[in-house]
Amino acid sequence: MEKLDGVIFDLDGVITDTAEYHYRAWKELAKQVGITINREFNENLKGVSRMDSLERILAYGGRLGDFNDEEKSEMANWKNELYKEMITDIKPTDILPGVVSFLDELKMAGVRTAVASASKNAETILEALKIRDRFDFVVDAAEIKNSKPDPEIFLKALELLELSADVCVGLEDAAAGIDSIKGAGIRAVGIGDAKILSHADIVLEGTEQLRLKTLEALA
Ligand code: BG6
Ligand code: MG
Repeated sequence: MEKLDGVIFDLDGVITDTAEYHYRAWKELAKQVGITINREFNENLKGVSRMDSLERILAYGGRLGDFNDEEKSEMANWKNELYKEMITDIKPTDILPGVVSFLDELKMAGVRTAVASASKNAETILEALKIRDRFDFVVDAAEIKNSKPDPEIFLKALELLELSADVCVGLEDAAAGIDSIKGAGIRAVGIGDAKILSHADIVLEGTEQLRLKTLEALA
């Protein structure tokens, strides 16, 4: 890539560690209906929308047919209320290491930024972390019809940025997210376990390794 013009960030697990609280809240919800989930299964939920996550849990526990739409909606709300309780105290010190200095580096270089999160809580979380203003755009998850790994959300981010895929990179901690980035024709940077994120163009162990130079080298 000659010049990097745009970076598209996932939120949960990339900007802050809310992925952990999504897991804990889903585990509690699953327990209420007699289903046990573990961290390995949780990898299938990362990046996936609230209702799709619930349906994956119910299918995993063989209970998908046991609840109607109204009941499923109540369960999804229950999980979201628990999740919101868990993150009430979220603050700027909860931003993952290196993210702020990376955003500074991007700003200095004139690189535009967007957030492409499946979470309907994204705006609230970014405000609480006091970094909403650092991003040029935040895709509204409510407008997205197809969950990651569908490329819809990253394509929407490109549209908002008014940039083509070849001058951008996407950052993700979830396998579904990496496939969503790649499906949009964008280069993908995985943050986390290289085995889980094997479809990424490059995998960094953690956000503290984010550098503009590393991303630009992804030719
Ligand atoms: C994604 C998370 O960012 O957002 C998923 O990785 C979560 O775990 C999804 O289910 C939807 O989030 P929310 O906050 O709208 O329930
Ligand atoms: Mg994520």
